[in-house]
Amino acid sequence: MKPVRIKEDIYWVGGIDWDLRNFHGYSTGRGSTYNSYLILDEKKVLVDTVKVHLFPEMVERVSGVADISGLDYIVSSHTEMDHSGSLPELMKMCPDAVIITSPNGEKALRKHYTHNWKTKVVNTGDELKIGRRTLKFVLMPMVHWPDSMATYVPEEKLLLPNDAFGQHIASVERFDSEVGLDILTGEAAKYYANIVLPYGAQVTKVLETVSKLDVDMIAPSHGIIWEKHISRIKELYAAWASNITKEKAVVVYDTMWHSTEAMAKAISEGFAREAIKAVPMNLETNHISDIMTEILDSKYICAGSPTLNNGLLPSAAAFLTYMKGLAPKGRKALAFGSYGWGGQSVDQIDEIFKNCGFETFDKIRTQWVPSKSELEDITSRVAGWVRK
Ligand code: FEO
Repeated sequence: MKPVRIKEDIYWVGGIDWDLRNFHGYSTGRGSTYNSYLILDEKKVLVDTVKVHLFPEMVERVSGVADISGLDYIVSSHTEMDHSGSLPELMKMCPDAVIITSPNGEKALRKHYTHNWKTKVVNTGDELKIGRRTLKFVLMPMVHWPDSMATYVPEEKLLLPNDAFGQHIASVERFDSEVGLDILTGEAAKYYANIVLPYGAQVTKVLETVSKLDVDMIAPSHGIIWEKHISRIKELYAAWASNITKEKAVVVYDTMWHSTEAMAKAISEGFAREAIKAVPMNLETNHISDIMTEILDSKYICAGSPTLNNGLLPSAAAFLTYMKGLAPKGRKALAFGSYGWGGQSVDQIDEIFKNCGFETFDKIRTQWVPSKSELEDITSRVAGWVRK
């Protein structure tokens, strides 16, 4: 468990969570890391901790280059316990260390932990000289919680933005030049779609702030450090935060006896007829967090469920609840589904789409098993809708 030098006298000392597969509903197939950074100057500073089960790993890494009891400052960028969870154990080892946090971080730490730690509250623009280097603080409310903040080290051109620019990847590699860019940007997209998506306006402000800083390394609190591809991840964040979408459709559905599935395929064919890529995603075989990743850059969202007991299939209800919470904006949407009697599921999907502020197409439902001509009619209607 060695520390990894990222700059002179600055080390990655985090924990690697190889086994993580579920981050409150987000499927993390590649695991994750909780990145802590140790800055050794006249003052010794640790930026963020790790989930508590990986605390021994973090201690071992810090101890490879410093006496952990000699920490002067601990920056708590964000109170969510993947980053603050080891503070109680750590503070037993360095009780005189001062915790630097945002105003909302100070309040949140008091509600998470019973403590009498020394704290220093900082705001955007505040600076702390730690020797040769300076720590400059930038509040980033709602990226990801109201307490979130970034630390910038101008002498090193180093930005530590906590959750922003993160990816859930467990890896022995630490830098973007060591991991395939497609994997990295794919996981960054999944992270954005499932964690950051509701906060586009706040991300835009963060990007404005970052654009004024001289940065050659962005070291987030999850995954890989950006160095070679900083401009690429900033471009992607700018597009995602602005809800820039492609001519692309995601057709999400579940099915009981393949009727709604047949409708999903007919709808996908309608997009294809207009040369628009459509991705059918069966809720039985696709995780909702992977569906959100596809939705991130899709202009069209179609969702289908047969009617079950006057409502939706539970898988469709779960997806729609999850999607509504993540609040994609400016999409065009289509509700569809089969039914035997009643047919309420389609109205319920359509209502959720309207509540999301989407522009909706006339909902489509078929009774029992759709005939070949009904499916052809669905394809034609969708193609006509897209053509308008
Ligand atoms: Fe990685 Fe919002 O915590």
